[in-house]
Amino acid sequence: MYITRIYADGFKNLKKVDLSPHEELNIFWGKNAQGKTNLIEAVWLCTGVRSFRSTKDSKMIDIDKDHMTIEVSFKDNFREQTVRYSMDKNNLKEKDLFLNGVKVKTPSKLFGQLDCVVFTPEDLDISKGSPENRRQFIDLCVSQIKNNYSGVCAKYDRIIEHRNALLKNIAYGKSSKDELEGWDTQLAQLGSYISLLRYNYTKKLASFASKLYSEISQGKEKLEINYYSTVFSKLEGRKDFAGDLAREYLDVLKKNTDEDIRAGFTMKGIHRDDIITKINGLACRDYASQGQHRSTALVLKLSQAYILEQEKDDAPCILLDDVLSELDEFRQKFVLSKIKGMQVFITCCEKNIQFEKNQHGRLYNIEGGRIKTHKRKEKKD
Ligand SMILES: Nc1ncnc2c1ncn2[C@@H]1O[C@H](COP(=O)(O)OP(=O)(O)O)[C@@H](O)[C@H]1O
Ligand SMILES: [Mg+2]
Repeated sequence: MYITRIYADGFKNLKKVDLSPHEELNIFWGKNAQGKTNLIEAVWLCTGVRSFRSTKDSKMIDIDKDHMTIEVSFKDNFREQTVRYSMDKNNLKEKDLFLNGVKVKTPSKLFGQLDCVVFTPEDLDISKGSPENRRQFIDLCVSQIKNNYSGVCAKYDRIIEHRNALLKNIAYGKSSKDELEGWDTQLAQLGSYISLLRYNYTKKLASFASKLYSEISQGKEKLEINYYSTVFSKLEGRKDFAGDLAREYLDVLKKNTDEDIRAGFTMKGIHRDDIITKINGLACRDYASQGQHRSTALVLKLSQAYILEQEKDDAPCILLDDVLSELDEFRQKFVLSKIKGMQVFITCCEKNIQFEKNQHGRLYNIEGGRIKTHKRKEKKD
């Protein structure tokens, strides 16, 4: 899949952008605070997934303007499509979203059309940071390949909030334990479904990532990735999320009720699960070096791209926001070699990124939100 046009007007500091990116490599270089990440964010918004920067809607529109429009056209194996994303300062709730000219209700309805994998410097800490970051990562990955998944997660989150409020009320004697029943049944069903999808995704991730990690460590290290469930001791080979798994989930919730009431929150469930990474048998979170964390992050992101490619029969677009400068030359080359053939957008402060032999691309400069084609670099062998 590749993007054929990016148009933006009124998005943050970007001055009217209208460009036709190269099918392979697109490098945007410029000093800090010129609008490089804003450009990546504009493209990302058209995937329908929440901003990776968690920018509030009201902060997306240029402070000097009332309106913003982003339009991204992209081609997959079958056709060219266009996503149009507009917002008005006076009516932020009612976004104007169109897919091929047809209005869609919410950003999540855009899922699965424009597929991108975004990689930012914050992602380099994924195996080091909190379990929440890893859960967010896996949820985003699954939502890219499973349409209803983000809706199920949102519902689970709402129910957990209700249940936690109820637990506190029970502790204060304002509610009775019986009132938990209805919430628990729903949690068990949604939680089982999420557990199973996450577990199966983690298995795929592990199989791609362990091969890539063996390469990046030149055969010296072995990466293992496992889904850690706070509810289930075994998920392998299980399928019946609405039956067996939901019953087991419900049992765990029931067994823990008294402890939950004391704690004032639900202690077990998919909101407490984790993705455990180990290198040569040692947990990354506790033992890995900076370099090992980086390599782990790189192979996780690359695996996300490969899984999308496998599921969709088409490679996603890769957005590398300011990450190359964080990597040593070996890791830079490794990443670039693994995404060869995919459309890549790279932002950096350096204009002297080396194009590899046979790699075609375009160089742009961003200054004060203005994007100029800098120099066309096409190297033939
Ligand atoms: N809503 C907005 N309106 C105007 N400018 C904005 C808005 N939001 C962010 N900016 C500006 O965008 C710039 C940051 O752009 P960014 O893409 O993060 O830079 P970088 O090139 O370092 O990646 C800052 O100068 C910031 O003030
Ligand atoms: Mg930036």
